[in-house]
Amino acid sequence: MATVEPGIARHYEVSGLEERILAALADAGVDVAHLRAGDLEAIDEFHIGGVAATRELIDQIGLKPGARLLDIGSGIGGPARFVANSAGVDVTGIDLTQSYVDIAASLSKRVGLADKTRFVQGSALDMPFAKASFDAAMILHVGMNLPDKPKLMSEAARVLKPGSVFAVYDVMRLKDGALTYPLPWASNETMSFVATPDDYRSAAAAAGFSVTAERPRGALAVEFFAAMRARLATAQAEGKKPSPGLGLVMGEDARTKMANVTAALEGGILAPVELILRLV
Ligand SMILES: C[S@@+](CC[C@H](N)C(=O)[O-])C[C@H]1O[C@@H](n2cnc3c(N)ncnc32)[C@H](O)[C@@H]1O
Repeated sequence: MATVEPGIARHYEVSGLEERILAALADAGVDVAHLRAGDLEAIDEFHIGGVAATRELIDQIGLKPGARLLDIGSGIGGPARFVANSAGVDVTGIDLTQSYVDIAASLSKRVGLADKTRFVQGSALDMPFAKASFDAAMILHVGMNLPDKPKLMSEAARVLKPGSVFAVYDVMRLKDGALTYPLPWASNETMSFVATPDDYRSAAAAAGFSVTAERPRGALAVEFFAAMRARLATAQAEGKKPSPGLGLVMGEDARTKMANVTAALEGGILAPVELILRLV
């Protein structure tokens, strides 16, 4: 299982990513010497629906100020910073990709959130945290890279306090059908472990979670990519550079990845799904 992880981390690496982000923002007129968390949100929320989807997910957790939240697969830290800022919680992010962990910490420092967010390198399937360390957890668009959903759930259950909420927002398989690669989370099929909502529910139940809410977000996903395509087409028609967006983190083949995931979403094969779990 661990053998797939180095390849997955390499899939996400984009050389000089932080410099590219800062250069693109400066180009778009942002004062990068005085960066604010909001300046980053079109780039650092690496999941379908962006910051609005993060807000809608965490509104279902019921976070209290000062609570300790774990963000599993925290990427370059957008969701962690948004929740730290908006809900006044302390967020710990864990991510497999070392350069993402470093960029997440650096961006938090730049926007004045270094004391509310910390980022560590590690695997969701073997987390370096003690039992009952956190009051809540979230995972956004990471499970597609995790071959062992029961291990994800048992690790989450181990590090959460009894009664805690675990908010899941992953791309899941809703029906059979071939996927075309690359996808935003996988260069090829050896890195992709998309599972059904049923797989998640049974792994969660075995780890001691009950499902308190479930919501497929396929329509939101189709709209999200349509808006992104429209933004790129408008910029092209006007002969302008598109405003900085997720293409920066998706790397050179961003357009192919977006086209492939859009086809699977429009075909109803995949959809992002929210699952709100409570540790019994
Ligand atoms: C699509 S990005 C989502 C990032 C972030 N959750 C967000 O929404 O902005 C997927 C992330 O999962 C991380 N990841 C993949 N496999 C992982 C694992 N086994 N343990 C921890 N993180 C992992 C990747 O490094 C990447 O940062």
